[in-house]
Amino acid sequence: MLADIVPPEVAADEAFGDPPEVVLFPEEEAVVARAVDKRRREFASARACARAGLARLGVPPVPILPGLRGAPQWPPGIVGSMTHCAGYRASAVARAGDMLTLGLDAEPDDSLPEGVLDAVASADERAALEALASAAPAPSWDRLLFSAKESVYKAWFPLTRRWLGFKEAAVTINPADGTFDARLLVEGPVVDGRRLTGFTGRWLASDGLILTAIAVPRSSPSARQNGRPDE
Ligand SMILES: CC(C)(COP(=O)(O)OP(=O)(O)OC[C@H]1O[C@@H](n2cnc3c(N)ncnc32)[C@H](O)[C@@H]1OP(=O)(O)O)[C@@H](O)C(=O)NCCC(=O)NCCS
Repeated sequence: MLADIVPPEVAADEAFGDPPEVVLFPEEEAVVARAVDKRRREFASARACARAGLARLGVPPVPILPGLRGAPQWPPGIVGSMTHCAGYRASAVARAGDMLTLGLDAEPDDSLPEGVLDAVASADERAALEALASAAPAPSWDRLLFSAKESVYKAWFPLTRRWLGFKEAAVTINPADGTFDARLLVEGPVVDGRRLTGFTGRWLASDGLILTAIAVPRSSPSARQNGRPDE
């Protein structure tokens, strides 16, 4: 699924269960030593995905440890993102020379729990979701908006090392071409000599899952324009 929504320079790996024998590095074991079994399994499986992708980029296996605010610390010269939800684990990695940043999120294709939408979406975003839902009942548009925002945060954080609130980006979902646009409502970082004003990502709903991915190519003149399937 994931490979369908990221550019070919991105090594995408996913698992729909937990491989039985994932070997963690001792440093990784230490991170989840006291975690519940579910957390241990998702942590390990996401790392198995990431190491498979890194291997295709010629990077030998290394520990992938959580750093500042939980952001994964990738080997030098690599950008990446990981996600896990019930029944799904995935990673996307790329050479930093090819991609500026990556953001990846997976969610179950179910409505958000009561009260969450008001916390994560503006009035305009909620009105747009209603219009989408009246045109097509599926996927769960509210969950898709949430996932897109999680992907925005995961792409934003490695560039800025700063928090970004749910209402600090305005997301528009484009149902016709499976993309979404995120307009930053706070000042974005200057990258490759240009101020980043937003992200474009792609989404996919299949097999009870919603996936969103942002991949910003390094050479693009405008980060805002990246990720569209026709570019
Ligand atoms: C960090 C966060 C995005 C994780 O998303 P999630 O749906 O809860 O969980 P996922 O399984 O999809 O992703 C977890 C992975 O995200 C990655 N991650 C965690 N913090 C991160 C950060 N600050 N930056 C980038 N990636 C991060 C990690 O790889 C983590 O997996 P790991 O702990 O096994 O390494 C989420 O918990 C959060 O804090 N969101 C609030 C901020 C936000 O989304 N703002 C919206 C801006 S519009």
